[in-house]
Amino acid sequence: MKILLLGSGGREHAIAWKLAQSQRLEKLFIAPGNAGTSEVGENVALKADDFPGIRQFVLDKGIDMVVVGPEDPLVKGIYDYFKADADLKDVPVIGPSKQGAVLEGSKDFAKGFMQRHNIPTARYQTFDGEHLAEGLAFLETLQAPYVLKADGLCAGKGVLILPTLEEAKKELREMLGGMFGTASARVVIEEFLSGIECSVFVLTDGRDYKILPEAKDYKRIGEGDTGLNTGGMGSVSPVPFATKEWMQKVEDRIIRPTVSGLAEEGIDYKGFIFFGLINVEGDPKVIEYNCRMGDPETETVMLRLKSDLVDLLEGVATQTLRERAIAFDPRPVVCVMLVSGGYPQQYEKGKPMTGFDQVGESILFHAGTALKDGQIVTNGGRVLAVSNYGQTQAEALAKSMKGAEEIQFEGKYYRRDIGQDLA
Ligand code: AMP
Ligand code: GLY
Repeated sequence: MKILLLGSGGREHAIAWKLAQSQRLEKLFIAPGNAGTSEVGENVALKADDFPGIRQFVLDKGIDMVVVGPEDPLVKGIYDYFKADADLKDVPVIGPSKQGAVLEGSKDFAKGFMQRHNIPTARYQTFDGEHLAEGLAFLETLQAPYVLKADGLCAGKGVLILPTLEEAKKELREMLGGMFGTASARVVIEEFLSGIECSVFVLTDGRDYKILPEAKDYKRIGEGDTGLNTGGMGSVSPVPFATKEWMQKVEDRIIRPTVSGLAEEGIDYKGFIFFGLINVEGDPKVIEYNCRMGDPETETVMLRLKSDLVDLLEGVATQTLRERAIAFDPRPVVCVMLVSGGYPQQYEKGKPMTGFDQVGESILFHAGTALKDGQIVTNGGRVLAVSNYGQTQAEALAKSMKGAEEIQFEGKYYRRDIGQDLA
């Protein structure tokens, strides 16, 4: 099978690495990819949302399946673009239709969907600029802290958690006044939930689903979960509090009603669903849906997936997921993300990187790297994910830290406490 994978981050390198292990894979292309993906497939100089360019490439190369990494092409409707094209309609796209991607693209839609299907989530209401007074009044009915979410996609910046009513009211006025452009034309106000978060992933063919290994990501820049939010500083899988009993609650109360709810509403969804969950006194609740895998969770999840990913994706494409087996590696995996000095604020790119052959058993996934005159250089804030298996989570962390030490570039920073809060 010839597969085209769209995207360019650590998540895509991890997916590419897993796809490349399949006997069923004939050729893997990644558009646009990064320095790491070029080690497991062939990079193609096409942007992940260049639909006409992708169309031409798929036809020229006889691509059998397109796998979408990031949300952007999905929210822009790549699935529907293929379905509507006489020459492309039989080429499966792994990822939901545009309507399905709205689960991620609109917080208000996601909350309404959960309400319609009795899926546990925080109490909420949505307001637009014409209903500011009602929004301010709703805030008064809630307890601090206050959670405000821009309805639309804002590159991970659209959620504000405010400690006081005064600040919440001020921010609500600003959001509805255009703080995030049209993305905050509507704002979801919701009850604050207190608990530990966990990311659960499923693959669905629209009828059935397979649950992938769960993971936890670490979003803050500083150790002990302090400082600014980032795109993710590391992840662990499995998550110790996600016991069999807890995961059964997740499946019964959240996963099954979501997959059947999508079908009932006539929403075409064949791809990954990412459930951002929070454990509130033993009960899972949904914080958010994403229509793709998580980053950096994928950099641990793919290591724990024993089954052939091409086989599972083919099950999605042909709606035969029910017949496919899924197996996990029981060993814990910890991923430590190396980032550029200064990230998530100002940082420099283009720093030469060395030590790739010194990392022992570490599995490296490139997030923000580039090849410059044959030399790998930094090319983003989040640079490289270092993942390891261990007999215990502590051992996996120790191995990833060792790998992290061996990689050298000016300004390198990483957290040393990934997963330690769970131990
Ligand atoms: P989201 O973009 O929806 O993932 O929100 C970003 C982050 O804000 C989440 O990962 C949570 O840590 C936090 N968050 C969002 N909604 C709530 C809530 N209702 N209660 C507590 N924390 C929340
Ligand atoms: N790790 C969270 C995300 O991918 O959105």
